[in-house]
Amino acid sequence: MNPETENVTEIPESTDSSSSPSPIRSTLGGATQDGATATVAGETPASHAKGITITGLNAWYGSQHSVRDFTLPVARGQVTALIGPSGSGKSTVVRCINRMHEEIPGARAEGSVMLDDVDLYGSSVDVVAVRRAIGMVFQKPNPFPTFSIFDNVAAGIKLAGGKGEGNMRDRVEKSLRGAALWDEVKDRLGEPGIGLSGGQQQRLCIARAIAVEPDVILMDEPCSALDPGATLKIEDLVHELKKDYTIAIVTHNMQQAARVADTTCFMLDGQLVEHAPTEKIFSNPDDSRTEEYVTGKFG
Ligand SMILES: Nc1ncnc2c1ncn2[C@@H]1O[C@H](COP(=O)(O)OP(=O)(O)OP(=O)(O)O)[C@@H](O)[C@H]1O
Ligand SMILES: [Mg+2]
Repeated sequence: MNPETENVTEIPESTDSSSSPSPIRSTLGGATQDGATATVAGETPASHAKGITITGLNAWYGSQHSVRDFTLPVARGQVTALIGPSGSGKSTVVRCINRMHEEIPGARAEGSVMLDDVDLYGSSVDVVAVRRAIGMVFQKPNPFPTFSIFDNVAAGIKLAGGKGEGNMRDRVEKSLRGAALWDEVKDRLGEPGIGLSGGQQQRLCIARAIAVEPDVILMDEPCSALDPGATLKIEDLVHELKKDYTIAIVTHNMQQAARVADTTCFMLDGQLVEHAPTEKIFSNPDDSRTEEYVTGKFG
């Protein structure tokens, strides 16, 4: 699938939803109806963070069964890395989390994906609200090509129907600061977004994603098109972002997983092989296939 197409198709749909809050919009927007927040005792809740629980997920492209009986908690306020060889199903899983998988002709998914206590595949769920609550950053930076730096972020807010606090200028600045980009662009906000370097463009896309204050951010190989310096900036940013957001990140870079992730999930042939604290996955995994993969014997 073309990442640019994914994002472009997503944003305009959001306009429609802004005038008609759905049950999930109000649930996703704050505390649950009884005020419960599903916070684990003793845990410091991140302000926007909610946890994802994937249970018994199966995903198909036509007759091809690409994700099988996949179960994974993505803990709130933590970074969860998905690793595994090419074709093992990592991108499919993240696209199932924010319901982008079903946009692919012939694709379907079964199973349960919960955002805290909301079933994202429930019959009353507004898919647009799901994608607003669960932001996505793609492999290739995909700023809106004709938009300025400012408008790239503002467009995300407007088209997603965001009505958060503060005026647009303040919200754009806050998002750019949150994406560690403000100091580099504050004097050129009117210039085209695509005039930035690749690493800056990726941080612009992160600014666009966080501008609507999502609960979760999905990142599918966000650094694979970047040089080592730009990669480290994104990794530093991930550390900052996890104070406020739950993050799932797909990576082929073992060092990156080791640097940024609290827990790491190893996938093979559409199945979960092992999910454990990152340190364990890289030093003492339970499954021999995990060990072979992380030590570079295949993949
Ligand atoms: N749009 C699609 N149409 C048909 N099959 C697809 C599509 N996208 C993925 N697949 C298939 O589903 C399986 C899982 O693919 P997926 O892209 O999720 O793997 P991945 O782990 O993200 O791989 P990579 O590391 O190369 O990005 C593969 O067999 C792939 O060929
Ligand atoms: Mg992929």
